[in-house]
Amino acid sequence: MSYCEGKVAVVTGAGGTLCAPIAVDLAKKGANVVLIGRTRGKLEKVAAEIASAGGVCRVEPADVTDEKAIGEIAGRVAAEWGPCRFLVNGAGGNNVKAMPTRLRFSEADFSPTADFAKDRGFFDIDMDAFKSVLEINTLGTVIPSRVFGLQMAKAGGGAVLNFASMNTYRPLTRVAPYAMSKAAIANWTMFFAQYMAPAKVRVNAIAPGFMVNERSRQYLMTPDGGLSPRGEQVMHHTPAGRFGEAEDLLGCVDWLLDDSAASFVTGITVPVDGGFLSSAGV
Ligand SMILES: NC(=O)c1ccc[n+]([C@@H]2O[C@H](COP(=O)([O-])OP(=O)(O)OC[C@H]3O[C@@H](n4cnc5c(N)ncnc54)[C@H](OP(=O)(O)O)[C@@H]3O)[C@@H](O)[C@H]2O)c1
Repeated sequence: MSYCEGKVAVVTGAGGTLCAPIAVDLAKKGANVVLIGRTRGKLEKVAAEIASAGGVCRVEPADVTDEKAIGEIAGRVAAEWGPCRFLVNGAGGNNVKAMPTRLRFSEADFSPTADFAKDRGFFDIDMDAFKSVLEINTLGTVIPSRVFGLQMAKAGGGAVLNFASMNTYRPLTRVAPYAMSKAAIANWTMFFAQYMAPAKVRVNAIAPGFMVNERSRQYLMTPDGGLSPRGEQVMHHTPAGRFGEAEDLLGCVDWLLDDSAASFVTGITVPVDGGFLSSAGV
């Protein structure tokens, strides 16, 4: 019997590149999986895959920064399925409006941009876009953790898995609020781990290296499937010599969620990065 068989696992960002396969994998292992994301259609595709594999899931569209909506989902799930025992906080992302096109300060920063779409510096970035990236990546993890963490505590234990990034360790160029928020995830993971330890709730994070998703494809690849200059830089720093796939995360996800495999492991962030962090690139 698998560690999650018959238990409730909530996956946020479940319609996305990395968490859809995680949700499917948990369902194949026998978990009753709650799929959360804003777009019903994305979740329904994953639900169809789970159903065709004989798994059990429910589609619960919501914004993870909306505490009321997440609370309502938690109430429904507890009433119909029982308490959440596993939470994968995969929802997250960036916003192109919060990303300068220029990498470093130059004289151009003294004047507002003439064409925001094509050429913008850090000082042209709109603070509302900046704040929205901080909010989804930080509060979007804290809110489901509060809501479902309490269910786990009442049920006698559970495990939370957060999503950090290579930006947790050192900020990449152009993604300041994303990088700040992913650094915050490692810190929050430690805080919540020590707070929840008496409740037998373990809290860890995974820090994926470079995995191509819809958004990062634009920055890492060319339209014909080759590497962009940024993609080439990443590859130069990735000893494994390839981008990651969602399937590369599954072993680590299982380990961190499984109480018999990782019973004394809490508060850590595990890089799954093809060696990116270990490489100076020279
Ligand atoms: N791909 C990578 O290389 C990489 C590397 C390091 C870390 N990560 C992190 O890994 C996690 C998953 O990434 P991914 O590559 O799978 O990204 P993705 O394909 O963009 O999926 C993210 C999912 O999160 C959902 N989402 C975004 N904002 C939300 C909100 N406010 N409320 C509810 N759902 C929301 C999105 O669906 P809706 O738009 O329908 O809501 C989307 O399906 C993210 O936290 C990301 O930052 C990714």
